[in-house]
Order: sequence, then C-alpha cells, then structure tokens
Amino acid sequence: MTDARQGLSGLLDTEAIRKDFPILDRTVHDGKKLVYLDSAATSQKPRQVLDALNEYYERHNANVHRGVYTIAEEATALYEGARDKVAAFINAPSRNEVIFTKNASESLNLVANMLGWADEPYRVDSDTEIVTTEMEHHSNIVPWQLLSQRTGAKLKWFGITDDGRLDLSDIDEVITEKTKIVTLTLVSNIMGTINPVEKIIRRAQQVGALVCVDASQAAPHMVLDVQALQADFVAFTGHKMVGPTGIGVLWGRQELLEDLPPFLGGGEMIETVSMHSSTYAPAPHKFEAGTPPIAQAVGLGAAVDYLSAIGMENIHHHEQAITAYAVKRLLEVPDLRIIGPATAEDRGATISFTLGDIHPHDVGQVLDEQGIAVRVGHHCARPVCLRYGIPATTRASFYLYSTPAEVDALVDGLEHVRNFFG
Ligand code: ALA
Repeated sequence: MTDARQGLSGLLDTEAIRKDFPILDRTVHDGKKLVYLDSAATSQKPRQVLDALNEYYERHNANVHRGVYTIAEEATALYEGARDKVAAFINAPSRNEVIFTKNASESLNLVANMLGWADEPYRVDSDTEIVTTEMEHHSNIVPWQLLSQRTGAKLKWFGITDDGRLDLSDIDEVITEKTKIVTLTLVSNIMGTINPVEKIIRRAQQVGALVCVDASQAAPHMVLDVQALQADFVAFTGHKMVGPTGIGVLWGRQELLEDLPPFLGGGEMIETVSMHSSTYAPAPHKFEAGTPPIAQAVGLGAAVDYLSAIGMENIHHHEQAITAYAVKRLLEVPDLRIIGPATAEDRGATISFTLGDIHPHDVGQVLDEQGIAVRVGHHCARPVCLRYGIPATTRASFYLYSTPAEVDALVDGLEHVRNFFG
C-alpha cells in the first residue's frame, strides 16, 4: 500500500460491495484480475438487479396495462412500481413526471422533438435560439442540430476553458431573449467536470427559456433532486447506475408534459383513436408508445433500491476520495496530461488523459493485456477533443465498487505502457 492510500477517508466498504457484483471476480488474459475502470460507459450490475430481472421473467412476464389476468396485473404493478421508485429517487413532485425511454439519448431526442412539434409558446423556429455547450455528449448535440436544421433555429453554445470548465464569461450574450431552450450536461462524460448549472438555470429563467439537463453522469453518482435543480427536463439512463441496458428516464415538469405534443405514436399513448384523428393519454403514457421496456424498468427499480440502501451521499464521498487519489497519482506519471480539471474539486469520478505521444488506442490495448479496462477514443464528445487539439483520450472512470488498489493498478499499468513504447 502506498503512503497516500493510508490517509484516504470516506471510502465505502468495497470488500462487501464487490461481493454483490459477480463480474468483478472475473479474470482476463490468462488469470489477470479484471480491473474495471469504465463505469462511465456502463456500470456493472449487482446480484440484486440480476435477480430482479430473472424473477420478473420467471414469474411475472406479461404485457403491461393490457391484460386482466393475474400475471399481467403483477407485471403492471412492477412496472409502475419502478416508476414510483425512480420518482422518489429524484424527488419528483409527481410520478406522472417520470417517462421511461430506452436510454438518455432517446430522452434528449424526445425533448427536442416535443419542442420541434410544439405550438406557441414553446415553438422553436427561425426567430429563436437553442443553447448547448461544447462539452456535451453527442446525444445532447446531434438532436439539437437536427432540430436547428429542421426549424431554422440558431444553435449556440458555451465554450470550454483550458482547464476543462464551461466558459460562462459571455453568459448574457449566449442566453438571450431569443433563447427557447438551454440544454447542458450536469457532469461531463469525458472530463468529469461538474457544471455550475444553477447559474445557467437562473439566467435561462430570466429570459423565459426552458432548461434541459443531461444527468446521465450525475444520477449514478450523487444526489439528484429535480425540485432543487429547478430545470424543466432531466434525462438519464439506467445502465450507468447499476441498472440494465435498454431503460432511460426523462423527467419533465407536469405542466410542460401536459402541454407538449407526443413524438412517437402507437399503442398505449392514446385515449381514443378513429380513422380521422386521435386523442392522447395523459403523461407519462402520452410519451410511452408501444410495449415499454418492462423488465428493464423493473431492473432499474432494483438498481434504485440498491443505490438508495448504500446512500447517494456515501457513494459521492467514496468517489470523491478515489478521484482525489487518482488525480494525485496520475499526475505523478511522467508525460501524462489530464484533459479537463486536474484537481479533485468540482469534478466527478471520470478522468481523461493523454500519455506523451502514445496513441490512446495503444494505451488501452496494453492496459487490457494487464486486465485493466478503460475507454479510449473521443467518448462521443468529439468537440472536446477538437477543442484541445487531440484525436482521442484514455479515460478511467470510477464507481462505488472502485478501490484505491485499482488506481494503483492503473498507474502501474501506465508505467508498463511507457516502458513498452520506450
Ligand atoms: N456515454 C457513454 C460514455 O461516455 C457510452 O462512455
């Protein structure tokens, strides 16, 4: 153990937690222990979530909101029960404000399309502006580019400072009376930056613009209280918060969900249909056309139970300690440059870096040979790489099951990479 590790406080009992995650026992490449440092891409799943999925399929599988028989009612109760759990987890004022989608990308596309088809006062057209940031995941850029192309609305964005923060020096010029929607990430998926969304929301409220927050990298890691946040929409995904893939969430303010039009049409989102026209079910069903991801929602409910039992504040403190340790140790590696905040403050547990001239794909490959799983590339946030004049980064991301020993393994692994490439 290094001296620095001895001073770490606020850590969770990872020995107990890791027993819940069967995959963390795996070995790769002839017996090398798996060191999983890619939770920003997807988290691993605890036994409790895997059991909930199995139990759903083994005992309750049926379509929801349709059947009058016992297991159909059980399936509906489980699906709607998951909505209650998610609503409580984010402190939503009403369960009807929680829409299930397939992932955060679909949630963000849903917001863009709600606004794209809306009437006044929400209508986005060539006299209006959409504001985003240069540090978004592609899923919070491309839907807005599509909306801008379709409507003629101008797309504007906040830039990034050299140290990986949002540049808000021109906030009053970027967000103006013409702004219809400001859409930004709470935590950067590539740099880990935690953004000062409150300041941006205050400015948006001054000009009457709506605010959409991408909380994909926040919901798994910290307390997310949509009432305290005061945004209009919040999007996140289940698979990054120990839940299954195929389930995302869009939270929206009730009056907006009542006013805004649906995007996908089909079964279950209607009140009545004739060959001439249809009327729609109230939210959230208005936005959930077709058979929803039922088992996945049930799995997300189990994930929320799992995280809540440990406590989101405890998880956040654990990650802060691990991240502070990781920043310190990584900065000891010669030629390593952190892309983004090179401090422990106001940042999440995701750290991107370059290592001299060694291409990140080579770094990732040599780390993999040692059992260490990191993500390499532009992380679906290519504008960030362009901003810093680099093609790609290596990204290590930590979660509630990450340990200081895994940080040490990464640092040792990077030494090996340096030696390997001379
Ligand atoms: N959005 C995921 C990531 O950042 C896939 O890796």
